[in-house]
Amino acid sequence: MKKFNIAILGLGTVGGGTYDILKKNHDLIARRTGADYQVTRILEISDKAVAAHGVDPSMVAADADDILTADDIDIVVEALGGIEPATGFMLKAMENGKSVVTPNKAAVAASYKKLGETARENGVHFRFEASVGGGIPCLAGISESLAANEFSEIHGILNGTTNYILTKMGEDGRSYDDVLKEAQEKGFAEADPTADVEGIDAANKLSILMALAFDQYIPPMDIPRTGITGVTGEQLRAARERGCCIKLIAHAARKEDGSLSCDIRPTEIPFSHPLAGVNNEFNAVYVTGDAVGEVMFYGKGAGALPTGSAVVGDLIAIMKQLSTGCR
Ligand code: HSE
Repeated sequence: MKKFNIAILGLGTVGGGTYDILKKNHDLIARRTGADYQVTRILEISDKAVAAHGVDPSMVAADADDILTADDIDIVVEALGGIEPATGFMLKAMENGKSVVTPNKAAVAASYKKLGETARENGVHFRFEASVGGGIPCLAGISESLAANEFSEIHGILNGTTNYILTKMGEDGRSYDDVLKEAQEKGFAEADPTADVEGIDAANKLSILMALAFDQYIPPMDIPRTGITGVTGEQLRAARERGCCIKLIAHAARKEDGSLSCDIRPTEIPFSHPLAGVNNEFNAVYVTGDAVGEVMFYGKGAGALPTGSAVVGDLIAIMKQLSTGCR
């Protein structure tokens, strides 16, 4: 049985969840993959995080190069978050023959073409399912299972933190600050929650979705966006009286002339629409394809284990491919 060595950069929420799943479900994953694996190195400066996940301190790398240029690492999970140094680390890992998996939407959206080209040039795999929708397999769904379709429209609830805040403010009448704090404690929010509440995180994810669904890369900074900081309890109550809720909706559509329109903004949704039932940290991606019609992907969009589930799914896909010599 082939054995793969995996390294994880960052043992934060997602890196930690990934490590825990790889450890807990080792035998099941190896059986389904048809290959064995071990996590041999971790990049993490927090001794507390290392101890919390029961990582043997001797596995902690001295620096990133100890992983990125090592001959004995097959796959690198980049879970540091942020654009740099994460992007530089991923490129270096690929240039050194390693396949890469990342949940890092900011880095993927910022350097979508460069990361893909570098993977192709170096004959390695690059997967980023966890970057959109946490544990929901929407990227594989769109780019593999639904690849026969010409997509005309995407509606998404792509940010768990803002959906959690709008749900709790709308249903329980709680204050914005109080619920944001809770979302941070639960590990949903970004290190700087401005990225969540201003719609930056959702724009990163919509950029990735559009690249896959419409074969057109739109940089996240070119996506018009309005966050949720201006949404008041009063507006949520008034919407409720009209039979609606307010959600931060990421929308993209192909226009008749072939160009794309897209934006992120708080939007009133009638309670009868399937997206109205997507609450708390749950996300949904609702796509319209010319053959399949309407499809909604739904599940937990944030959190250690849901997002780790998608990372490990990508690792399994890569190990299966590498086992058969497929690049
Ligand atoms: N901060 C992100 C969210 C984490 O709330 O959706 C998952 O990408």
